[in-house]
Amino acid sequence: MKNTNIPEEQFVKAAAQFGTPLWIYDRATIEQRCKEVKVFDNVRFAQKACPNLSVISLVRKQGCVVDAVSAGEIVRALKAGYKGGCEKGKVPEIVYTADIFDKDALELVKEHNIAVNVGSPDMIQQLADAGVKSELTIRVNPGFGHGHSRKTNTGGDLSKHGIWHEQIKDCVKLAQANGMWITGLHMHIGSGSDFEHLASVAEAMCDASRRLGSHLRTISAGGGLPIEYHEENKGPHIDMAAYYGIWDGARKKIQQSIGHDVHLEVEPGRYLVAESGYLMAEIRAVKKQGDNLFYIVDAGFTDLVRPSFYGSYHQISVIARDGRELNETVDAVVGGPLCESGDVFTQEEGGFVVTRKLPKAKVGDLLVLHDAGAYGAAMSSNYNSRRYAAEVMYTNGEMKVVRERQSFEQMLQNDKIIEF
Ligand code: LLP
Repeated sequence: MKNTNIPEEQFVKAAAQFGTPLWIYDRATIEQRCKEVKVFDNVRFAQKACPNLSVISLVRKQGCVVDAVSAGEIVRALKAGYKGGCEKGKVPEIVYTADIFDKDALELVKEHNIAVNVGSPDMIQQLADAGVKSELTIRVNPGFGHGHSRKTNTGGDLSKHGIWHEQIKDCVKLAQANGMWITGLHMHIGSGSDFEHLASVAEAMCDASRRLGSHLRTISAGGGLPIEYHEENKGPHIDMAAYYGIWDGARKKIQQSIGHDVHLEVEPGRYLVAESGYLMAEIRAVKKQGDNLFYIVDAGFTDLVRPSFYGSYHQISVIARDGRELNETVDAVVGGPLCESGDVFTQEEGGFVVTRKLPKAKVGDLLVLHDAGAYGAAMSSNYNSRRYAAEVMYTNGEMKVVRERQSFEQMLQNDKIIEF
């Protein structure tokens, strides 16, 4: 199997031991990616990419801090060992970044003194009304965006994210009127590997800093560090030094104009975990629809939704369960078990089903979707009453369960049958 650190026999063993569908995370890959991003002053893990408690806790052990976008993510961060608190001059371990507070989030922020990165002016007033007086950072919408699909574009006047760049001064006034200071700026635009675009985001950060003035102590470059999903293009990773260089240049420019040091943070999700993760399924049917060959597997978009949702490409490997050589290739469509035609892993944006060159396989063989560690298990659902798959981590040569497969009882436990 290409592009993996995990020996093939470990996949086979894991399928026998834990069943399929199964998420597998490689600890060494996560550790390696954390190290690579450490060129920034501070690395904040966007846990939305993979919120498994063992994964968060591993990332924490690598010295990264964490982002939380909901009450549930605050709870997870605390459970994984991070502490609340936003003392002056200290990097907060947990930052809540969102465009709204719901009641639960506001309560948890207050109770644990969680640092807040506000994405709407209303959040400032709501914090003040809740009696919170702390330093804040602002997520800025610089007026333009980027993203690997329309659904992941995070800036511009059609994006719901962040505070419009022209409103920064009003937010400063609103915060000050309520005894709070804005000490940080954050931009998550998702430029990916487009360094020219990234440079314009960094420039927009310099512009935004002029609207904020001398209270600025932190800038965050957000996430969006790309990984390569196509196996043919796999090679050296993004030029981290160049990525950092663009942001460090902006930081230095800002420092020069305000006359003191500014901390530079980055907030990756995908980069830290995507390549560590695999979704393993079993081929349960091999059938022909006209001229097209279909492999139907026991994982669907309830497990990995990215192909259905964005037309995302994931490398696919096949492992013969009986150890035979897989020399022959065929063109096949890979579909899942759901009662929905969009439940196909080989499709392009817009829902166009395509075939993939894959080894000739038979029922019982294993099919592995690569680079599924980010926004994989995280975006799973119970649609069609399918249970959340188990998650295991490959560590020190063995597979350890980090999330049990959901039981039918757990799936049903909050449903109630009322009297009729
Ligand atoms: N920071 C903020 C404020 C974000 O909204 C995000 C992602 C990140 C950091 C991390 O971005 P990353 O480094 O992972 O690209 N479900 C989509 C991605 C949605 C990203 C949402 N926000 C996917 O599967 O590609």
